[in-house]
Amino acid sequence: MFHGELKIRDLSLRPATLLAPMAGVTDTVFRRVIRGLGGCGLIMTEFTSAEGVTRSAAKTLRYLYYDEDEHPIAAQLFGANAEVMASAAALVEDLGFDQVDINLGCPAKKVVKCGGSGLLRDLKLLETVLRAVRATVKIPLTIKMRSGWDDSNIVATEVARLAEGIGIEAIAVHPRTRVQGYSGHADWNVIARVKQSVAIPVIGNGDIRAPEDAQRMVKETGCDAVMIGRTAATNPWIFRQMEQYFASGSYDEPSEADRYQLLSGYFRSLIAAELPDAIGKMKQFACWFTHGVRNGGELRHQVHSSRTPEEVLQRVEDFFSDVAGARN
Ligand SMILES: Cc1cc2nc3c(=O)[nH]c(=O)nc-3n(C[C@H](O)[C@H](O)[C@H](O)COP(=O)(O)O)c2cc1C
Repeated sequence: MFHGELKIRDLSLRPATLLAPMAGVTDTVFRRVIRGLGGCGLIMTEFTSAEGVTRSAAKTLRYLYYDEDEHPIAAQLFGANAEVMASAAALVEDLGFDQVDINLGCPAKKVVKCGGSGLLRDLKLLETVLRAVRATVKIPLTIKMRSGWDDSNIVATEVARLAEGIGIEAIAVHPRTRVQGYSGHADWNVIARVKQSVAIPVIGNGDIRAPEDAQRMVKETGCDAVMIGRTAATNPWIFRQMEQYFASGSYDEPSEADRYQLLSGYFRSLIAAELPDAIGKMKQFACWFTHGVRNGGELRHQVHSSRTPEEVLQRVEDFFSDVAGARN
């Protein structure tokens, strides 16, 4: 049964639920939304180029910025040069992150040439990178991997054993291959096999859409914690709902007022933070989030035709002004 706590060495995460890193989504503003709603044990930055942050102070500040109230927080790095990865990890440690995570999953062409899921095809290089980072940082070190490059190269258990031997302290598994991208289903059997092959904690990830799925994943795979990606963008209450569900067997649905407050508050914070591409993020988030909103299609249409962040916000305000009680 789900025990509610994930221990990664001396880091105690309660509850045992994690926000998956999502490039373009899990920036500091979004992460604080998730923190504010409660129920999430660990949040993580978007994947961050080790080369980029070690070369440019401006990039470090931009990609590795976090707010004190985001703790506990992990920074995720990608790269394939052992020395550069070690320097970037040292930087992450100096910045006060609680954990450093290495990305072994990104399927993007640009990334696989220099890390991400590309390292799953070169386990010798992977070993060198992991050893270099392990020798450099004292904070907990984890990896997040896909199951392999393609169906005939499922290397998850091999990588897990290799990582454990090097001193990696937990492993998140998104059991799709690189070739699969985001299509088809995550094969949870791979999570179960990884769990059986190592003694360190295993974090299951992939296709959890509701608390019931999380419970099923824990039951079917024996994983020690669950990690949620896309569902957090369509339903940021998922972490709180899981906490309620594991404790009592039921959970609350957000009201229209909750939805209005979340959307409007998130968009206001995005504008205030002056992040690059605020309007792009608002449109993307509105698209995901409004699938749970009554007449969401209409709001999506309005948001997409807006030209400034302020206009998007106004459309949200107008849309919800009709919803009884939403603005109280
Ligand atoms: C828009 C988007 C961006 C992502 N960016 C990252 C990333 O930066 N690092 C990473 O390890 N995985 C990334 N992923 C993969 C997710 O972390 C997660 O493994 C995957 O979405 C499966 O989990 P889910 O079914 O809960 O979404 C991304 C996924 C999406 C949809």
